[in-house]
Amino acid sequence: MDVRMFVSGRRVKKWQFIQLFATCFVLSLMFFWISIDNHIVSHMKSYSYRYLINSYNFVNDSLSLKRSEEGVPRYQYLINHEDKCQAQDVLLLLFVKTAPENYNRRSAIRKTWGNEKYVCSQLNANIKTLFVLGTPSDPLTRERLQRRLVWEDQMYSDIIQQDFADSFYNLTLKFLLQFSWANRFCPHAKFLMTADDDIFIHMPNLIEYLQSLEQIGVQDFWIGRVHRGAPPVRDKRSKYYVSYEMYQWPAYPDYTAGAAYVISGDVAAKVYEASQTLNSSLYIDDVFMGLCANKIGIVPQYHVFFSGEGKTPYHPCIYEKMMTSHGHVEDLQDLWMDATDPKVKTISKGFFGQMYCRIIKIVLLCKLTYVDTYPCRAAFA
Ligand SMILES: *[C@@H]1O[C@H](CO)[C@@H](O)[C@H](O)[C@H]1NC(C)=O
Ligand SMILES: *[C@@H]1O[C@H](CO)[C@@H](O)[C@H](O)[C@H]1NC(C)=O
Ligand SMILES: *[C@@H]1O[C@H](CO)[C@@H](O)[C@H](O)[C@H]1NC(C)=O
Repeated sequence: MDVRMFVSGRRVKKWQFIQLFATCFVLSLMFFWISIDNHIVSHMKSYSYRYLINSYNFVNDSLSLKRSEEGVPRYQYLINHEDKCQAQDVLLLLFVKTAPENYNRRSAIRKTWGNEKYVCSQLNANIKTLFVLGTPSDPLTRERLQRRLVWEDQMYSDIIQQDFADSFYNLTLKFLLQFSWANRFCPHAKFLMTADDDIFIHMPNLIEYLQSLEQIGVQDFWIGRVHRGAPPVRDKRSKYYVSYEMYQWPAYPDYTAGAAYVISGDVAAKVYEASQTLNSSLYIDDVFMGLCANKIGIVPQYHVFFSGEGKTPYHPCIYEKMMTSHGHVEDLQDLWMDATDPKVKTISKGFFGQMYCRIIKIVLLCKLTYVDTYPCRAAFA
């Protein structure tokens, strides 16, 4: 068959049009690519590198401590509750990373997702909630804040505190505090979760999920919002700046965002062991967790309803499936009331209910402009 037969007359115009269109498309894509944040580009570069890094035993001697006694910092407890977990069948040990001055946040969490009594009576599970703190770092208000913390703890008995300064650059010390506490005082907890004090956790959904996992005796479990092949920030002006001396490789191993992740008890024990052998000067706590986990060969799983930096869209169809959402302070109690309302569970009942929620979720989550909440595929989960 002669090809020229087709490539003539009207056909040619059509082909030319398609070529022109394709060229424009590629050009605009390139333009877009160049103009977008450099960060994303370096992210993509390291994305390919991650396959190497995750299969390679890269936590080598340069990150390991020469002798265990020389490096892992030890701090004293100022406030502690050694018996908090005792003689109980604990499903979830929940650590909330908080700062001394965030009294209002803790107060809202105690009334909502951190409420042990609610989980026990409504969800038939035992959780233990602990607020994890260092000491107030501002010398001017230190004593007053510390007195308030002691008073607050007398009321609620849910604070653990060690004598390191509570600051962003000491987050890894807070990480070590959580894992050593769990290892010493609550090794029998089935799951361990660590969360920021400005997130929302849909406890009924989470507990139901964990109960189903417990039944199948899940192990090596680590779930959250996974960062894959994230590159270290080498810009000195950034809060997340990490020097080559501290970390030499172009990408971190996969890790879950520190805002909220869940691990099984066996992982908690192994991560604790690994944490005792690594140089903890890397102050980004979730990355440090990634290094510990990489050392013991545990990889994180991505759960589409663990949110990124952004707030989840407010809608019952979302509440039905959500696990966590980030950035809730003022709206926490309202969201809790709305999202845990039993009516939410009925909205997607039946064929039309399912169709309705599918469409709503596609509209809310599959936007062209990137919003860091749940990924588009969550609409189809
Ligand atoms: C650790 O890995 C880095 C980068 O691959 C390499 O330069 C360094 O020599 C290694 N250190 C040891 C002790 O193997
Ligand atoms: C971390 O805590 C230690 C112990 O309190 C303190 O000496 C150090 O200055 C703190 N680091 C930062 C960056 O706040
Ligand atoms: C940990 O790493 C830092 C560099 O990030 C280094 O200065 C320090 O000496 C190391 N500490 C130990 C105990 O190896």
